Amino acid sequence: MPHKPFKAVIPAAGLGTRFLPATKAMPKEMLPVVDKPAIQYVVEEAVDAGISDVLIIIGRNKNALSNHFDSVPELESNLVKKGDQDRLAKVQESSDLADIHFVRQGEPKGLGHAVSRARAHVDDHPFAVLLGDDLIDERDKLLARMLGEYDKRGATVIALMEVDPEQIHLYGTAAVEPTDDPDVVKVTGLVEKPKKEDAPSNLAIIGRYVLDPKVFDVLEHTEPGRGGEIQLTDALQELANMEDGGVYGVVFRGRRYDTGDKVEYIKAILQLAADRDDLGPDLRPWFKEFAAGL
Ligand code: UTP
Repeated sequence: MPHKPFKAVIPAAGLGTRFLPATKAMPKEMLPVVDKPAIQYVVEEAVDAGISDVLIIIGRNKNALSNHFDSVPELESNLVKKGDQDRLAKVQESSDLADIHFVRQGEPKGLGHAVSRARAHVDDHPFAVLLGDDLIDERDKLLARMLGEYDKRGATVIALMEVDPEQIHLYGTAAVEPTDDPDVVKVTGLVEKPKKEDAPSNLAIIGRYVLDPKVFDVLEHTEPGRGGEIQLTDALQELANMEDGGVYGVVFRGRRYDTGDKVEYIKAILQLAADRDDLGPDLRPWFKEFAAGL
């Protein structure tokens, strides 16, 4: 039986401790990347892949997120009065993007726990999970590829990226076998943040998943793992080993920006701004001057 259209789930209930104090009263997914909050890029990516229903998992500081995707009548009428159509369109963009829903996580007990909060909304259908602090360049279509792979293989699909072995301890890492497609691997095992010498490969899990709904049953009994948190990686490991489960990985070779890390966040802003027609021409010569003075 064909499944219902994919819904997207964006967990945004983490504490964002690496960005304190900026994240004291604001979720890290609301940090601006040039002139849009990071999460707006992620919602746009889901919409671009054909998804129109988005569930955001919210924690403390939920208001900033829900307000951003709501209309703001007083701001809009002020811009209408001024005849500022460009800015009006920018303000309305986020509220018109998709059908956006919110659910509370309550306590930040880990990414796996956050995903389990989506069960009532997505029901018994496959769904996409996009991490709100992981940006994929809009020119590199990863999610659409993963949705297509789910439909082809009928099993969970995760996104993997080759990383420098010196960095592998920062990521969930996959043990894999090749398939008939050079960009797709079968995942045989997963380890959360291994030491370099224990890593089964240099393929790191990045923040895009297309999950089979079986993951919800698995998450019900997944015990807290690394850091005392319910880890999605642990649930995926169990899914990979299940006879009626299976996990595939799409190896992504495009541009990704990890806005959860300070240095990577700053790089993302510089790269995206330099590529923009309205900002690049002023910025690029300054980058050269700045670099020459270092
Ligand atoms: P991270 O571990 O990167 O987020 O989780 P964090 O815990 O907020 O970050 P730091 O390390 O303290 O700075 C990956 C994603 O999962 C969400 C986060 O919001 C982020 O998008 N998450 C994490 C939840 O929604 N709930 C949780 O309990 C944990």
